Amino acid sequence: MKKITIQTYANIALIKYWGKRDKKLFLPTKSSLSISLPYLKTSTTISESNTDKIVGINTGIQNVKKFLNLFRKIYQIKKNFKIETTNNFPTAAGLASSASGFAAIAKGLNKFCNLNLSNKELSILARYGSGSATRSIQQGFVLWNKGDYNDGSDSYAFQIFDQNFWPEFCIIIVIINSDQKNISSRQAMQITVNTCSFYKNWIHKSEKRIPKMLQAIKTKDFTTVGKLAELDCLQMHKCMKNSFPAINYWQKQTLQIIDFVKNLRKQKIHCYFTIDAGPNVKIICLKKDRAKIINNLLNICNSSQIMFN
Ligand code: DP6
Repeated sequence: MKKITIQTYANIALIKYWGKRDKKLFLPTKSSLSISLPYLKTSTTISESNTDKIVGINTGIQNVKKFLNLFRKIYQIKKNFKIETTNNFPTAAGLASSASGFAAIAKGLNKFCNLNLSNKELSILARYGSGSATRSIQQGFVLWNKGDYNDGSDSYAFQIFDQNFWPEFCIIIVIINSDQKNISSRQAMQITVNTCSFYKNWIHKSEKRIPKMLQAIKTKDFTTVGKLAELDCLQMHKCMKNSFPAINYWQKQTLQIIDFVKNLRKQKIHCYFTIDAGPNVKIICLKKDRAKIINNLLNICNSSQIMFN
């Protein structure tokens, strides 16, 4: 029986996506920019089946089923599929598994059905599963252009620099809580769009950060990359906290790690943080400082909480 296996990687946004202008088509209110995480891998195997069977996925079986129905409709496919997914990272750890998960399904279906889709088409297809999956089709630094068209045909992600462009750049993940989130990013971002009075202001400012971030990555200006990423994340969380009902993903240790990063900076160890829809903190640093940062982190965390490349 024909079976194909595809591997994809999670990504972390340095300039965030938070909010849709079209929920059905997953069209974002603004562009976003990410880096892939080669140590957070998803492996997905696809085969044909009598009915759709989804095994091992933690992105919501109903979401995958909806995605498959849409895929069949768009590409006039009559088959049902068995989709088996494994992640090399704790699936419930609040790490971006829906991004790599849907990117792997999109790529896998493309290969299984011999569709020969381009990266642009794959990125659009993955977007129907989860917004952040748009950016996991490719590795390295990736930009998801929000696009302007109502049909979403210009809302896709492309690689700006590949995974070998800046080998010194690294991300340390501090897992603070691996429980299921109390509110999904999908629901939470909609509440923010609908109720935060300064959400439009953030979109405007965040969109303007994209060219600055591109320039900083291009010139490997680490301080500017770190500052822009930290500011964008803080403003996104401020929007969440000023929504109704207020959304707060942070926990006590989230604040402790934020202080830890700020203290390291006072000691001239250059590092910054970014946080997504969960309590876990991603520390942005250069490889030359990684060991020092991890040694310091071990004073306040267990080694099992720390992931890095
Ligand atoms: C905070 O991609 O999970 O991680 O499109 O509804 O599936 P849906 O949302 P999702 O949101 C990710 C939000 C974020 C920021 C980011 O990755 O840009």
